[in-house]
Amino acid sequence: MSNSINTKLNRVLVIGLGQLGLPVAKYVNDKGFDVYGYDINSESMRRAQEKVGIKITTNFRNFDIYIICVSTHNPSDISSPQIDGLISVINKISMEANNGSLVSIESTIPLGTSKKIFELLEHRLHVVHAPHRWYSLDEEKYGVNQLRVIGGVSPCCLKLGSEFYSGHSKCAAQVFPDDDIVNHYKDQETTDRFTENIANFIENGYRNTNRQINPPIYSQSLEIPMHTVSTIEIAELTKIIENSHRYLQIAFAEELYLYCQANNFLFSELRDALNTKWNVEILEPRGGIGGHCLPKDTKMFLNSSKVRSKILQSAIEVDSLYRDFMTRREKKLITSVENLTN
Ligand SMILES: NC(=O)c1ccc[n+]([C@@H]2O[C@H](COP(=O)([O-])OP(=O)(O)OC[C@H]3O[C@@H](n4cnc5c(N)ncnc54)[C@H](O)[C@@H]3O)[C@@H](O)[C@H]2O)c1
Repeated sequence: MSNSINTKLNRVLVIGLGQLGLPVAKYVNDKGFDVYGYDINSESMRRAQEKVGIKITTNFRNFDIYIICVSTHNPSDISSPQIDGLISVINKISMEANNGSLVSIESTIPLGTSKKIFELLEHRLHVVHAPHRWYSLDEEKYGVNQLRVIGGVSPCCLKLGSEFYSGHSKCAAQVFPDDDIVNHYKDQETTDRFTENIANFIENGYRNTNRQINPPIYSQSLEIPMHTVSTIEIAELTKIIENSHRYLQIAFAEELYLYCQANNFLFSELRDALNTKWNVEILEPRGGIGGHCLPKDTKMFLNSSKVRSKILQSAIEVDSLYRDFMTRREKKLITSVENLTN
């Protein structure tokens, strides 16, 4: 076996160049990786090329890392989850990618999706989930490089993912003792089919460094602080629960607003007064809970359990009542303005 520990991997393909994928591709490119982009929408590809200088391709061959940022909602109902596009991307990766490459799913996905993908790829590739927290209204603070959670389907997946994102696998080694990673490789017959580079690196790295942190396998890292979790399911759950939590907070604000309307109180005054307490933060209800993240992710969480969350089901009901109220009020307002002007 040739010693190829110093061979650094740096070819990245970002798949899905929408609201999230575009800043991700730009960030990875700025970090010095050789970045390509792919999207089923040719306009998104053109924009990535012209605005961010990303090379575009329809060819999935010879990449070291695949970052998946495709949409995971139903195109005809943005509040419903759908992973057909993601699965078609995985099928293409399965047919064209080199063994041993890393697949990182940054899109928000239903519980159990990463393992399904890992099985589709037969562990010929490594699979991690690093769900995104990107926030378009404050990219400076909550952009691509903010603290994130990462989970791997197996210890070797997590090790590679951690090295790519944060530059070291120290956090992976804390979750899985070194021996677990070595044993995993010994036990898995699929290891033989990995590219020589990666299998050789892991074997030599762990045997030669006497439990020290290995030299990096990628040409550089994204230098993103990552919070490592021991199972991929915990990583999947964190994202959909974060957004369910936000959904609940907004729905409570909507309910308080409806309460004030029914009981003749001024919501803004009540809210200001409540928010003077150190541990209270009542949000401001706006046009209802929309977009393709909060409603869809909350449904993903609701669908993840046989025992459906009662509080979230009620929150969805409250949001629907609030929207009806706002629509009725708007119609009434338009009618009274029309009456005034006639
Ligand atoms: N936008 C955010 O603020 C944000 C934050 C955190 C997580 N997310 C999650 O990230 C994912 C992407 O969100 P987004 O806001 O970028 O959505 P988006 O609709 O803006 O972009 C998604 C892109 O994926 C492309 N796409 C869809 N199917 C594809 C396929 N089969 N092959 C290639 N490309 C395909 C679409 O053409 C589109 O350009 C979602 O799962 C979302 O929940 C988004």
